[in-house]
Amino acid sequence: MDLQLTTKRLVLRPLLMSDVGLVIEMFTDHQIMKYAGGPISEEKINAEMALNIRRGGKGCVGVWCICDRASGEAFGSIALLPLPIDQDHTDWEQVVENQLPDGEIEIGYFLKRAAWGNGYATEAAERLLCFTFEDTSLKEVVAVIDPENKSSRRVLDKIGFVSTGTRRAYGQKLPGFSISADMYRVKHPSL
Ligand SMILES: CC(C)(COP(=O)(O)OP(=O)(O)OC[C@H]1O[C@@H](n2cnc3c(N)ncnc32)[C@H](O)[C@@H]1OP(=O)(O)O)[C@@H](O)C(=O)NCCC(=O)NCCS
Repeated sequence: MDLQLTTKRLVLRPLLMSDVGLVIEMFTDHQIMKYAGGPISEEKINAEMALNIRRGGKGCVGVWCICDRASGEAFGSIALLPLPIDQDHTDWEQVVENQLPDGEIEIGYFLKRAAWGNGYATEAAERLLCFTFEDTSLKEVVAVIDPENKSSRRVLDKIGFVSTGTRRAYGQKLPGFSISADMYRVKHPSL
């Protein structure tokens, strides 16, 4: 399975240990992490980087780096990962090489602030959904957001997610969203 995904302006490629600088830049930033549990310390990121690059389901679950297609510069991340229900963080034990996690799979995305407002998150998420429903056996992707995270909500709307109401995730009650393979095909009948 080719895990390098290309769009008009972007390349999504699996996150590597060498991307730790990008992860530190994004996850220690108060503004970027405002609606995602708050900033994470550099020490914790360094300690957990080996988990962050884990892949499951023969590679289709995990984190991708969002890069500029022309220059290769990495300026964001996007992920398909098991949704934590009662825990406040991803359960990396569920991310196992040849096996899809049993529970729901969530999409999440982060961009360096300089990259906001250009449609990159929408473009990356659309490509990842196309990969998910065309190249893997996953039948549904879910998302949860902070109720105040208007830009993330808008991205979900634009790529065809529908609200599933308030639900439990990350040990909280949060607005939930989902898209199924069937819903995706209605929007993209050529698949
Ligand atoms: C969420 C995030 C990835 C969006 O990235 P982006 O590339 O700027 O998103 P896009 O440009 O594709 O789309 C954003 C949309 O939200 C809209 N938007 C932005 N701020 C908004 C606000 N305060 N109110 C309403 N809409 C807003 C934009 O206008 C755009 O919609 P449009 O295309 O209809 O104009 C980026 O803001 C980010 O990294 N935020 C911090 C991390 C985060 O919260 N991630 C989500 C949690 S997993």
